[in-house]
Amino acid sequence: MQGRRIVILGSTGSIGSQTLDVIERLNRAGRAFTVVGLAAGRNIDLLSTQIERFSPLVVSVAEEEDAIALRGRFNDLAVLSGSEGLEELAKYPDVDLVVNALVGAIGLSPTLTTLSSGHTLALANKESMVIGGELVTRLLQEKKGTILPIDSEHNAIFQSLHAGKHSEIERIIITASGGPFLNTPIDELAHVKAADALHHPNWSMGSRITIDSATMVNKAFEVIEAHYLFNVPYEKITPIVHPQSVIHSLVEYQDGSIIAELAASDMRIPIQYALVYPDRVATNLPRLSLEKMSRISFEPLDVMRYPAFASVLTAGVRGGSATAAINAADEVLVKKFLRGEIGFTKIAEGLQQILDRWEERDDVEDKDLSLARILDVDRWAREQVADLSL
Ligand SMILES: NC(=O)c1ccc[n+]([C@@H]2O[C@H](COP(=O)([O-])OP(=O)(O)OC[C@H]3O[C@@H](n4cnc5c(N)ncnc54)[C@H](OP(=O)(O)O)[C@@H]3O)[C@@H](O)[C@H]2O)c1
Repeated sequence: MQGRRIVILGSTGSIGSQTLDVIERLNRAGRAFTVVGLAAGRNIDLLSTQIERFSPLVVSVAEEEDAIALRGRFNDLAVLSGSEGLEELAKYPDVDLVVNALVGAIGLSPTLTTLSSGHTLALANKESMVIGGELVTRLLQEKKGTILPIDSEHNAIFQSLHAGKHSEIERIIITASGGPFLNTPIDELAHVKAADALHHPNWSMGSRITIDSATMVNKAFEVIEAHYLFNVPYEKITPIVHPQSVIHSLVEYQDGSIIAELAASDMRIPIQYALVYPDRVATNLPRLSLEKMSRISFEPLDVMRYPAFASVLTAGVRGGSATAAINAADEVLVKKFLRGEIGFTKIAEGLQQILDRWEERDDVEDKDLSLARILDVDRWAREQVADLSL
């Protein structure tokens, strides 16, 4: 495997930009990676810089007015827009790997399209599995497709699963840093500000996942994601707080052996693993210095501190469209918190209220979950949030 032809959805984001950095490193290390297509939202200045650097054949942006501006700047480039543009890129011909680094529910449809078209999917967009896990696993079985997980925890689990058989798994242990408020007195959490919540102790990420890490919505999402990706029941997935974020997750086998993956807290390491899998390549990424590490600690996840964790996990176990409702509500509530419209603890309160309202719907039993149904419940939940008294 010398190189691959790649499409990146969400190229201007945290994961997307780091993916391009990894591609440059791999090419310097003698690989021949080609960027075929890039999709972005509204940051067309950064996208323009990426176009100049990587010369893709096709790009897509969220709004047609931005597409018009780009067509004026780049004569020979195919420029698409909107959700149709994302779909086109997800199934673009003659591509080896699609990296889905979009944020939010918008990532699900391109995930399904990528797998339907037979492309390998390198998945960062965890919402695809959270809201569409049932659909994605159905499609994976049908098409015999492949997902390479980029999320550091799932990438660590994926690597640790090479040490044993599926039938030998005792449990999957997902580590959580605890976020910026691990040691904040619980009665002060109502008053923390967006700037405090955006200051993650170990990782530099997009704003939504950073807030989700502070509330632990992110960890519940990761439990749901692991359940679907690795076909392991919820009772065999344990979250554990590990503040140093050097062990990215673990798999315990039935003989008592626990296999872990450790690395520097740098997303380019799991991104690169997905890009060159099953190879490993030296590209001079940061190393973990075990000699300089004085302490590795663990503690149980305290649900009193992170009530949103319980609400989101309940939605996961409930299944069907419950996760579509809770994810959409979280997307809106996080934006409201970032704009200073609601307090930090209102995110968890709002999520529980939306889950209660979802339970009261007279059509909660999703006998045959479809993308249309997920998107319908997503829209419904966004409207409901506007109507909550928080
Ligand atoms: N960041 C991390 O370290 C990390 C770690 C593990 C998992 N993840 C997961 O990876 C995913 C991406 O996270 P991130 O932190 O990279 O997010 P991010 O920095 O917010 O980037 C999101 C990307 O999606 C694009 N986008 C948003 N709306 C769009 C639309 N309507 N059409 C097309 N593109 C759109 C954005 O474009 P513009 O910026 O141009 O608008 C941007 O390129 C999330 O699911 C997250 O949970 C992230």
